[in-house]
Amino acid sequence: MNTLIQNCIKNKSSKVPIWLMRQAGRYLPEFRSIREKNQDFISLCLNTKLSSEITIQPINRFGFDAAIIFSDILLVPYALGQQVNFKKDYGPNLQKIDLKIINSVKREDFLQKLNPVYETVKDIKKKLLMVDKDTIGFVGAPWTLLLYMLNRRSPKEGNFSVFPKDKYIHNILAKLDEFLKIHIEAQIKSGASIIQIFDSWAGLLPEKDLEFFVYKPIKSLVDFIRQKKTISICFPRNISNYKKFVDNVNPDIINIDYNVDPSIISDTIDIPIQGGLDPKILLQNKEIVRNEVTKYLKTFDKKRYIFNLGHGVLPDTNPDMVKYLVDKVRSFYGQ
Ligand code: CP3
Repeated sequence: MNTLIQNCIKNKSSKVPIWLMRQAGRYLPEFRSIREKNQDFISLCLNTKLSSEITIQPINRFGFDAAIIFSDILLVPYALGQQVNFKKDYGPNLQKIDLKIINSVKREDFLQKLNPVYETVKDIKKKLLMVDKDTIGFVGAPWTLLLYMLNRRSPKEGNFSVFPKDKYIHNILAKLDEFLKIHIEAQIKSGASIIQIFDSWAGLLPEKDLEFFVYKPIKSLVDFIRQKKTISICFPRNISNYKKFVDNVNPDIINIDYNVDPSIISDTIDIPIQGGLDPKILLQNKEIVRNEVTKYLKTFDKKRYIFNLGHGVLPDTNPDMVKYLVDKVRSFYGQ
């Protein structure tokens, strides 16, 4: 049997699937209680028992239509030998990059290091098989990972310059293409039915650099995912022209951010669309939430649409508001 998302992307059905980015995270008390006892974030991602439990928490609570594996895009630089730490109120902190180390990493060693993630995927797949929900694996896009690897922390908007397209950058991008495919394939083999590609910092690039840093490297991953007969979702956050991205990259589903006008997306893009709602809306009152949800559902009424946010759930979100959101989406079509 097909899942709701698989049906939705094949043909416009009356049911709108819903899941949220960062649905497993700090807004949930059951997540915080595990996190308090596990200070090291990377070790937590690599603890199959706990990461599996965290992945399933929002499914148990809200009945979302898909589970996204509790892991992180920065596990790839970590498995390529670049140390990563998560510091409180600072975010990720990466050690200086060493290309000699990265160039010497073997496929088997990389897979061995990330094996707990694949075990989590297998466990979630088993749990979701009975209920016909999707298991979503993911990777960071090459551009966003390159940026973290060189900048060593989250970039600040406006305070950054594009890297030269020299041999050094080509070398890192080639390694990322190779190992992201290894990571994607292992997640698919373990049971991921969808792979989402997060290009969180695509919006920092000027138009003239998109082909080299965004379109070409993501298309290589999307083509690979398609060869493996798996669904791809791309999220080039804050990119100024989603239509051009879709024309160049050809993903199965496009996730939009909250700065873009959904009616323009609806008028110009023909592939299934996901997301859009500003996560800050969930910090407002129910009336505002209801109005905004209705706006997105009406705008995409004639389209194949998966409900989601325009970025991750914020830590200050009240779980009751997430429940309200899910109820509103479900009741809109009398589901
Ligand atoms: O529920 C899910 O969405 C699945 C798990 C998931 C996490 N990170 C867990 C996480 C996913 C899909 C990601 C992707 C990710 N990680 C991205 C792309 C999406 C985006 O947010 O733009 C990026 C850029 C990262 C890197 C990263 N990880 C940053 C910048 C941070 C710190 C910011 C923060 O919220 O504190 C993280 C940490 C992180 N990854 C948390 C979670 C639940 C918070 C960790 C904590 O409890 O302290």
